Amino acid sequence: MPMTAVLLFGATGDLSRRMLLPSLFGLSVDGLLPADVRIVGTARSQLDDEGFRAMAAEALASHVANGLGDQAKADAFLKQLAYVPLDATDLGGYRRLADATCADGGRCADQSISIFLSTAPSLFKPTIEGLAAAGLTGPNVRIGLEKPLGSDLASSAEINDAVASAFSEQQIFRIDHYLGKETVQNLLSLRFANLLFEPQWNAHWISHVQITVAETVGLEGRVDFYDGAGALRDMVQNHMLQLLALVAMEPPGTFTASAVRDEKVKVLHALRPIDGKSAAACCVTGQYAAGAVNGEPVKGYAEELGRASSTETFVALKAHVDNWRWKGVPFYLRSGKRLGARKSEILIAFKDVPHNIFGDGVKGMQPNRLLISLQPQENIQLQLMSKVPGLSRGGISMRPVALDIGRKDAFADTRRRIAYEQLLLDLIEGRQTLFVRRDEVEAQWAFIDAIRKAWAENGTEPRPYTAGSWGPSAAIALIERDNASWND
Ligand code: BG6
Repeated sequence: MPMTAVLLFGATGDLSRRMLLPSLFGLSVDGLLPADVRIVGTARSQLDDEGFRAMAAEALASHVANGLGDQAKADAFLKQLAYVPLDATDLGGYRRLADATCADGGRCADQSISIFLSTAPSLFKPTIEGLAAAGLTGPNVRIGLEKPLGSDLASSAEINDAVASAFSEQQIFRIDHYLGKETVQNLLSLRFANLLFEPQWNAHWISHVQITVAETVGLEGRVDFYDGAGALRDMVQNHMLQLLALVAMEPPGTFTASAVRDEKVKVLHALRPIDGKSAAACCVTGQYAAGAVNGEPVKGYAEELGRASSTETFVALKAHVDNWRWKGVPFYLRSGKRLGARKSEILIAFKDVPHNIFGDGVKGMQPNRLLISLQPQENIQLQLMSKVPGLSRGGISMRPVALDIGRKDAFADTRRRIAYEQLLLDLIEGRQTLFVRRDEVEAQWAFIDAIRKAWAENGTEPRPYTAGSWGPSAAIALIERDNASWND
């Protein structure tokens, strides 16, 4: 059934302006969003259609990379937009929303509609009730849910139950925007479209895995949300555990939603729980103090917040996947705000060669490393040992040389997409592979809840670290105790 409408909740918010409207525009420019599809925005702000279009025009001008291009296309897209002000807790208001969405006298139940909820999770439940009351939950409606999906397993289950009361799992699209990133999807190509890596992708050959998502930004005006969440819930519960699952999963039989998600959830269930006893050795938390980022002085977290807080803005974990493939292989995860550089990367560190034929005189020999950089660079680097050219006496010298696939160069002629372009296209066209299934999200929360319980039992407080550094020194010790080091 052809799509008739896209309905955006939280349409005047930051995500909508920075990501969702520019992504819909990108799809529209490429002819992937038919001109007769209505895009209805809704939020509390009292705007009319024209006011929303003006806001959207401004958002596109500020956030579409490389400019709007053909103005006629931008005008055509803006004409597709409509707006209905709504207090999401006011059940009565949803009728007007349904009228605007299912225009042309059509019955909502017969229409194919994609709904995207980018609102506070406390509004999910009333929104679902309102949608159901207004007939906006028919079999051809799909609903996308933006994080945070709760703040622990119980609240996430409550949201999932509320959504499940009106939609089947096939209609529910839980967003983790990392899954829309090119390089994250490319991880699957690297693993499963190449023969070279998979035979070595296990505990026989790999000594450890590192996943880093480092940011230079601080609170960014998200005081209320962030201080109630912290790095563990904001980044590890979702993005980092999804990256871990993609690295660690078995090859799925097909690239279908159920096959891929079945494999990911097995990994999430195999995560060794971190409890009160193991937490001290497995976790480090930190909070940034004043320092300098990119040469600019920045305030500490508490100063930015205006009060003292025990929220962690940095977390490092040593995790284990307890199965045959990963027996004894630590997965070190690290994420934080106001760190030394913005970078997201996955490092696969291989073991030493089983026997060194070069003897004690060899210099510089190191194990191979595969570095998958997700952002800001999109690179894959395989570090191979190579002899340093020159004469050798009493032992040869080696150095790692990178076999480098800079995706920017390899694919110079393709437009870089926002992660949400892929995700919105999949939502509209009904592909669920890049969305998180209920059992995944709940397994992620179960792992995180245990860590938070352990921290509460142990009275864990974040250690201060200087803004612009790589986190508390205990995070360095966490990995160095195992004779490894972060890839900084
Ligand atoms: C969001 C977090 O999910 O991801 C933010 O809530 C974080 O705190 C953001 O800044 C990072 O996303 P990206 O795509 O910039 O790495």
